[in-house]
Amino acid sequence: TAAPVDELISGLCATIPDYPKPGIVFKDLTPVFADGAALKAVVDALVEPFRGQFDAVAGVEVRGFLLAAAAAYATGTGVITVRKAGKLPREVVSEDYALEYGNATLELHTTDLPPGSRVLILDDVLATGGTLGAAVRLFERCGVEVTGVGVVLELGELDGRSALKGHRVSSLLRL
Ligand code: PRP
Repeated sequence: TAAPVDELISGLCATIPDYPKPGIVFKDLTPVFADGAALKAVVDALVEPFRGQFDAVAGVEVRGFLLAAAAAYATGTGVITVRKAGKLPREVVSEDYALEYGNATLELHTTDLPPGSRVLILDDVLATGGTLGAAVRLFERCGVEVTGVGVVLELGELDGRSALKGHRVSSLLRL
């Protein structure tokens, strides 16, 4: 019998102190993605609360792309890329946000999804919520309904959920 998904994640997740800067404790989920059984369990668990309620899955650059592509394939939906500034070639909407370390801008093609469609947004980690808050705003500005937000790991101390008020947030492991 397989271990519960939160145990799979906590067993495989790597912790790197002082990366990328002193004082930051970085949670690295790449060993979870590298494990076939864990990847499948994670993707299935991310989709499960929202099954049948979305028309596409969006991933936030860059690790969110891995999850979103797998979730979209598993559910027969399309995949949308929410990207760092300057990477998308057509007309975009842009949202600035404060990251746990520094500032950044996320962008979305304005015509990737039609107004009124529903998107599930996935990323690896919810920390301050700056990143996913910006991603939510991008879709809302395009008239797309955000079904929910799913992350593998939530760093509860940083209260990222407060940046996502009014939205359904599902995390597979809370630390
Ligand atoms: C990390 C992580 C999330 C974000 C979470 O990405 O993958 O996207 O930070 O932090 P927040 O909740 O405080 O906004 P990062 O910005 O390091 O970019 P990368 O995935 O492209 O390396």
